[in-house]
Amino acid sequence: MTAIAIDGPAGAGKSTIAKQLAKDLGYIYVDTGALYRAVGYYMDKQGVDLGAEDQVVPRLGELTAELKYIDGEQRVLVNGEDVTQKIRTPKMSMAASKVSALPAVRDFLFELQRKIARENDVIMDGRDIGTVVLPDAQVKIYLTASPQERARRRHAELLQKGEKASFEEVLADIVERDYNDSHRAVAPLRQAQDAILVDTTHLDLEKSVERIHQLIKERQSHVDRL
Ligand code: DC
Repeated sequence: MTAIAIDGPAGAGKSTIAKQLAKDLGYIYVDTGALYRAVGYYMDKQGVDLGAEDQVVPRLGELTAELKYIDGEQRVLVNGEDVTQKIRTPKMSMAASKVSALPAVRDFLFELQRKIARENDVIMDGRDIGTVVLPDAQVKIYLTASPQERARRRHAELLQKGEKASFEEVLADIVERDYNDSHRAVAPLRQAQDAILVDTTHLDLEKSVERIHQLIKERQSHVDRL
């Protein structure tokens, strides 16, 4: 099985780019952030304090999180309920970031991610895919862009969905999540030693996909020659 790991901060373009690449290569696109969002969603619904380990951890046993693929599209199920759309709000972004700092939550989701990669050719995106979940991935990309550019993209996405948010709010959320995600004790966001850095601040979607496609080809022909 082949695995391509794409890590990086919120709004760098991971999911849009990975989706396109998965289509082109015939791989499954696995959005691991959706799993943390699913846990955040469930815990928020139960009214627990999302940063409190002693409140979240005992409740993990009540929860099954699943990813299903319907016509190549990932659906996220929490105890059988399809929450794919519901987890795409700024509130759920922050909820996911909070619960993702808890080691027990990371352990809870680890095997599920590994299993999908054992059984399928995958492009998996997240924060710790190249460093922790799939350290042997054949290709690792660390995708980033300036916070202002990432906030600009997220803001445009939200407006397109008809949601109200100011650019300043979106930027503040991005900066806070960057901080949380890269400063937690377990599996923080960081570039794996063998990951290739791609900065998309000045690249549009098409150029970003082209660039990464090229990197994958180069890397795979290098691996084939070994
Ligand atoms: O990729 P995303 O924005 O949907 O992720 C939501 C949150 O989940 C993110 O702020 C941190 C966490 N996350 C993580 O800790 N590890 C991953 N592999 C993916 C996401």
